[in-house]
Amino acid sequence: MEKEKRSNGNGDISILALDDDPIVTAMLQSYFQKAGFRIDVENDPFVAIERIREGDYDILLLDYLMMPICGDKVVEQIRKFNREIFIILLTGKRSLVPPLQTIRELDIQGYYEKSNRLEQLELLIESCVKSIRQLRTIRNYQESTASLIEAIPHIYNLENIDIVGENILRTSMNLLGCQNGTLILNFSDGGAPEIRIIRAGNGIATIENQSFVTLVGKLRKGTNSEGQILETLLYDENNSVIGILGVELADTPTLHEVQLFQLFARQSSAALGNTLLMSKIRKSYMEMAQMIRLMVDAKDIYTRGHSDRVAYLSEKFALAMNKDKEFCERVRLAGLFHDIGKIAVPDEILLSNRALTESEFEIIKEHPRKSFDILSAVDHYKDIAHIVLEHHERIDGRGYPNGLKGEEISEEARIVSIADAFDAMLSIRTYNEAITFEEARGQLVKHKGTQFDADIVDFFIQWLEDWEQIEKELENCTKFL
Ligand SMILES: [Fe+2]
Repeated sequence: MEKEKRSNGNGDISILALDDDPIVTAMLQSYFQKAGFRIDVENDPFVAIERIREGDYDILLLDYLMMPICGDKVVEQIRKFNREIFIILLTGKRSLVPPLQTIRELDIQGYYEKSNRLEQLELLIESCVKSIRQLRTIRNYQESTASLIEAIPHIYNLENIDIVGENILRTSMNLLGCQNGTLILNFSDGGAPEIRIIRAGNGIATIENQSFVTLVGKLRKGTNSEGQILETLLYDENNSVIGILGVELADTPTLHEVQLFQLFARQSSAALGNTLLMSKIRKSYMEMAQMIRLMVDAKDIYTRGHSDRVAYLSEKFALAMNKDKEFCERVRLAGLFHDIGKIAVPDEILLSNRALTESEFEIIKEHPRKSFDILSAVDHYKDIAHIVLEHHERIDGRGYPNGLKGEEISEEARIVSIADAFDAMLSIRTYNEAITFEEARGQLVKHKGTQFDADIVDFFIQWLEDWEQIEKELENCTKFL
């Protein structure tokens, strides 16, 4: 019964026993198999070296006096390619033990004077097993810590919560050698709870049948080890529960596994708490950017809906130019937010009907840089911030704020600039009927090669042949404003 119990614990340890006497190897195999170890035997020292090279053994038991080469020579060969295997030398008589210096140099963990009673050898092996497990734990821990560090998003490089969550789940499963795991995240922040479930393998938690609160209640005391399942709560820095991490092991977890899991969960909590917080900050920042955009649009009744129309024109036109999805999305967002920096321009300047003074115009000219500053603070808009910065640059270098020329201006900005000017001219037309569609189109042609990219204007004019259809869609995109 005792042997049976031990056998469950040693199945992960593999031994190779090498002795040129088959009777000895048979005896060793029989004894240690009963103790639950995986043990192979070999009687040829040269073959044994190759088996160690190709196999995955934790412990080598080998005879010292063998033919055709002695044990220390075998170890010498093995140590050239394997420094990790634990080695126990079996000796006939104490006087035949190799010198201590040789044992140290060859990193032999111990020697055992052969006898029919193998308990002493078993004790020696058990001490090796302890060290092997500790080494495995340290290695696992090092690997998982490295993975965890990768999973922790840099504060300025915000990662998606799903990516971080999945990384944590997979890492915890690798750490404990599990096939199934679940991470349940709770986003509720005073408002409606938002639950996210990330599963790997077949999954073990059933949030569908039990509320998050019920699951948390069950785990309130900390880590729950029920059967083969290990579950623990994850807390943020305010000690609020932000999630549940659960993994399913092949066997009942050992105390050591439970401790390792708890340690890992604490680190995961910190990473997740940070990501959730940054995700909330990012969301609220994006909402704020959206609000500022609408405020800017709302200020000027003559151009209301302008940014929506610039976004629409830029995206549809880029699509007609056969640009890829990401390009089209960049010009759409840049169109939406291009004038967001106008929030910093005083109303008496922005809404003035008189000619602006030079100093007032200088203030207006600051808005692309202000737009850039607002947008570049949030990772999600980083790709479009420079487009917005360049939307008043001119091909001839006489634009602002940086006086960029030709292709120094991004293609996206050259497109947004045309859509912006075109819609601005048409918006004014709506109210004072000063500029017709034909006149606006004529202005683009007139300024191509100086203000606007000539090739893009040509293509834009060609695209405007569908104006009737485009105009209808433009009306639809702003009719709820
Ligand atoms: Fe602008």
